[in-house]
Amino acid sequence: MKWKQQIYGMKAYQPGKPMEEVKKEFGLDEVVKLASNENPYGFSPKVKAFLNNEETNHAIYPDGYAQNLRTAVANHLGVKETQLLFGNGSDDIIAIITRALLYPGVNTVMATPSFSQYSHNAEIEGAEVRKVPLQNGKHDLKAMLEAINESTSVVWVCNPNNPTGTIVDHNELEIFLKSVPSDVLVVLDEAYFEYVDSTEYKDSIGFINEYSNVIILRTFSKAYGLASFRVGYAIANEEVIAKLDPVRAPFNNTILSHKVAIVALEDQEFIHSCKEKNKNGKKQFVHFCEKHGLHYYPTQTNFILFEVKADSDVVFHEMMKRGFIIRSGNALDAPGYIRVTIGTEEQNEKFLSLLEEVLTDQGVFA
Ligand SMILES: Cc1ncc(COP(=O)(O)O)c(C=O)c1O
Repeated sequence: MKWKQQIYGMKAYQPGKPMEEVKKEFGLDEVVKLASNENPYGFSPKVKAFLNNEETNHAIYPDGYAQNLRTAVANHLGVKETQLLFGNGSDDIIAIITRALLYPGVNTVMATPSFSQYSHNAEIEGAEVRKVPLQNGKHDLKAMLEAINESTSVVWVCNPNNPTGTIVDHNELEIFLKSVPSDVLVVLDEAYFEYVDSTEYKDSIGFINEYSNVIILRTFSKAYGLASFRVGYAIANEEVIAKLDPVRAPFNNTILSHKVAIVALEDQEFIHSCKEKNKNGKKQFVHFCEKHGLHYYPTQTNFILFEVKADSDVVFHEMMKRGFIIRSGNALDAPGYIRVTIGTEEQNEKFLSLLEEVLTDQGVFA
């Protein structure tokens, strides 16, 4: 068959190991997944109540335009309905953007390490990927600017960045946006927006009116706790949205996912309480790292990337045997580190005490 050349040797996205598989493999009764930055508190109790009583007719197609959800999100953000695009998770929007703008002969600029789906999708489209190393875990916007040339079509700024959790502050971002040519789309991926508490990180929505080449990605998968429902969205000026919309699959969310996202959006108190609990959870990890002299990145998200002074794959495996699924830094271009989703206080405590045991066994701690 006449496959695209770039498909050869390409691997499917490697998610964290499924919990059921780990339970069976290691004979465990309980497994905690701290690998995919889901919300350890689940979703709003209002969503739960809604799901207990809902009677959706799943025999009919959903509204491809997501009108009701569109109205709810537009009101929530204070933007026009025509400034929004909905996706089957923000992963879908990343694919839509790459499909619309990337092809052989153009290039795309991103940081490394950063979210793998930018390069994965760009490679499928046959575009050149220009990866600019982070500086101290942060986007090096100056170097990213230097990497842009007349063939650049899309620039990705993962803010906060996955896997380091670091942010680009608002002023730095504004200087960058002023310098990027106006025909280069700048994607601000804000999957972890709801968790940020730095005063240097301001709402970027104002940028879409000032810069016609900016698009912001957000999701219901993280703080809203709806990863399984697959709802992400983009905010940009109307012309950008109108260009991307024809690339979208016709029914890329379900009826139920629209309904559930609307209910979740109404419960901002839940989001606030998760953010507060996450802040305390972060402290447990920071305290552990500082106590043991392990380098960590100052995270503004619900995960943390930190040094283990041992082989990351070994630590990953040893923790899995003990019932915790995490991400090895080897899979994230961060060897010697692990990325762990901040869990509940109890999960974090148990995780860190087992990690102490593993790192002692590995000879890291005396
Ligand atoms: C930075 C970033 N962007 C996008 C996504 C995709 O999220 P979703 O497709 O669930 O909205 C993730 C998920 O891990 C992420 O970390």
